[in-house]
Amino acid sequence: MANLEETEASLSEAQIAVHWREEEYLYPGARFIGQANASDPAIYERFSEEHFPECFREYADLLDWDQYWHTTLDTSNPPFWKWFVGGRLNASYNCVDRHLATKANKAAFIWVPEPEGDQTQIVTYRELHRRVNEMAALLRDFCGLKAGDRVTFHMPMVPELPICMLACARLGVVHSEVFAGFSGAACGGRIADSGSRVLITMDAYYRDGKLLDHKVKADEALAVATGQGAQVEKVLVWRRRPGEYHSATPMTEGRDFFVDEVMKDYLRKQVDPVPMPAEAPLFLMYTSGTTGRPKGAQHSTGGYMAYVAGTSKYFLDIHPDDTYWCFADIGWITGHSYIVYGPLALGTTSVLYEGAPAYPDPGRPWRIAERLGVDIFHTAPTTIRMLRKLGPDEPGKHNYRFKLMCTVGEPIEPEVWRWYHEVVGKGAAAIVDTWWMTETGGFLGSTLPAIKPMKPGSCGPSTLGIYPVIYDEEGKTVEAGSGKAGNICIRNPWPGIMQTIWGQPERFVQTYYARYCHDTASKDWHDWPFLCGDGAVQAIDGYYRILGRIDDVINVAGHRLGTKELESAVLTVPEVAEAAAVPVIDEVRGRVVEMYVALQPGLQAGREIEDKVKMAIETEIGKVARPKNVWIVPDMPKTRSGKIMRRVIASISNFADVGDITTLANPDIVEGIRRQVYKQKTERGEAPRELSAKELEEIQSFGRAD
Ligand code: WTA
Repeated sequence: MANLEETEASLSEAQIAVHWREEEYLYPGARFIGQANASDPAIYERFSEEHFPECFREYADLLDWDQYWHTTLDTSNPPFWKWFVGGRLNASYNCVDRHLATKANKAAFIWVPEPEGDQTQIVTYRELHRRVNEMAALLRDFCGLKAGDRVTFHMPMVPELPICMLACARLGVVHSEVFAGFSGAACGGRIADSGSRVLITMDAYYRDGKLLDHKVKADEALAVATGQGAQVEKVLVWRRRPGEYHSATPMTEGRDFFVDEVMKDYLRKQVDPVPMPAEAPLFLMYTSGTTGRPKGAQHSTGGYMAYVAGTSKYFLDIHPDDTYWCFADIGWITGHSYIVYGPLALGTTSVLYEGAPAYPDPGRPWRIAERLGVDIFHTAPTTIRMLRKLGPDEPGKHNYRFKLMCTVGEPIEPEVWRWYHEVVGKGAAAIVDTWWMTETGGFLGSTLPAIKPMKPGSCGPSTLGIYPVIYDEEGKTVEAGSGKAGNICIRNPWPGIMQTIWGQPERFVQTYYARYCHDTASKDWHDWPFLCGDGAVQAIDGYYRILGRIDDVINVAGHRLGTKELESAVLTVPEVAEAAAVPVIDEVRGRVVEMYVALQPGLQAGREIEDKVKMAIETEIGKVARPKNVWIVPDMPKTRSGKIMRRVIASISNFADVGDITTLANPDIVEGIRRQVYKQKTERGEAPRELSAKELEEIQSFGRAD
């Protein structure tokens, strides 16, 4: 028999050790089931592989088509799938115009500015229609934009952002929103990559009580874009407070224009929605990446709209009379699919919130929910953890009632899930843990909330019409219930899948298909599994547990430890509010784990808690994963979308340069963490060691969030 050490060291790359315990099922209440959009289990049969691809007609039929399609799925040029070929439709018409007959005076958006004294604004469907038309007229006649052109937005969470998106969609212009929290330089690179001639921005916006100068980033963006050969003709600048200008940088004559001033010529103008081919691109969404050319995920009009409408209806259980609040940023794919296009296609009322979750205090979200009568709530584990940390008892003080809550963006630890369920959802709301990514347009994994029970820490089975498979490194199928993890792939095309990487079709094939496609000449979609980029394990009941990005794995002496399972173990320590695991290069074991921990409020850092953290990992996972150091820090460096930037703390742990931190929500904390860790490491006799270029690259790009 081979000795244990050897067997474990030769584990296949894909086999991330899985140590999470199986959790018990929880069932939604009868009240929820009684009103759900999908409560008949036969829906799974309708979307079974046998009925693929025609099953997706059911989603496409939620839309109004100017021309019905002749071919549901064209697979003649793999993996560039085409959905609803021959069909024509307009996304803006589907989100706005078609609701006017019955819902003109209903709120499409309720916008909540961050300053609590500022008035909440209601944008009815009628008003949305007027404003989208005016903006479309301005883009067409003042900027000369037409179908197929690209426009970059660098807009915060204000109603003008969806208005601009829908105005572009009305004309067939392809929009590319860059998250407002990103730097001017990041925006500039994306302007150049997309070939946008127009940038739309805002002078300033509120975040954490401060009115941030945002126009300054437009000037940086233009400098970078121009340096990369872009020719930007116009910068349109919205004003956060009409008539006032809150930026230190001047408006550049002949290039920069205040939208409110130019708009005077376009008031009350109407623009007919352009019937676009189903495969015309609707928008680009750039994914993270610090190095190399940015990756613009290109999404289609027909397939994408069908997919987000269908999944919003069944998985978020959105009805027209709900008040839905997705607490994400529109600058993220979640906001595109599940704030703008999906919910508006269904004609519901959505809350838009400008600011930081816990501003001015952690009771804010629950006050908003109570005041506006929110009944569907959608957010990310990081926000849930933060609100739990800052105000664990706050939800109970407010009189709102959620019927459904969604979590998205990263695996949610069962401990955190339970707080979400019991405290935020008051034990009554159904939870959907929706797993997907920028590239996929919409959900890939989730329970159907009235049909399948919830299981904390698992997203559930795949969504309707999605057929996943988990492969090991050799391309062998990892069986459900085997307790082994591997690389999760989707075997089939689906309408929400991105069409390509903008301008980089070879990279698209290379990144998502090359790994498991054995016959690139094949025209059969069965030969083209889509690599999601996540590690996953499937339980015997078919539920998936997502372990995080394949690259977020720490290989300690041959044991592939997922950051998430390490962090989940640490969250069993009651004092811990947040945890992040990073690798440290080690002569002996290859990599060792260092754990960053933020505590519940009011608690003091101390040796005792460090020991508890180490013990938790030993008992939940094993001695091999025992962290070298536990750093108790005031907060984690995070992106504006709330993902922990593991590469920053990984760099600190390895005495490496932290790189660009300008896109962080809280760049100020980095220096403090660095000093604290360096000081303690020095006291413990740890010295910086020279890293090879390859090691440095691994550390400085650890984790995907950026
Ligand atoms: C992770 C966000 C576990 C996953 C929509 C994926 C999740 C990456 C979940 C994509 C979930 C997203 N459970 N992990 N419910 N949702 N992820 O492109 O690692 O910003 O690959 O899209 O987030 O992030 P992206």
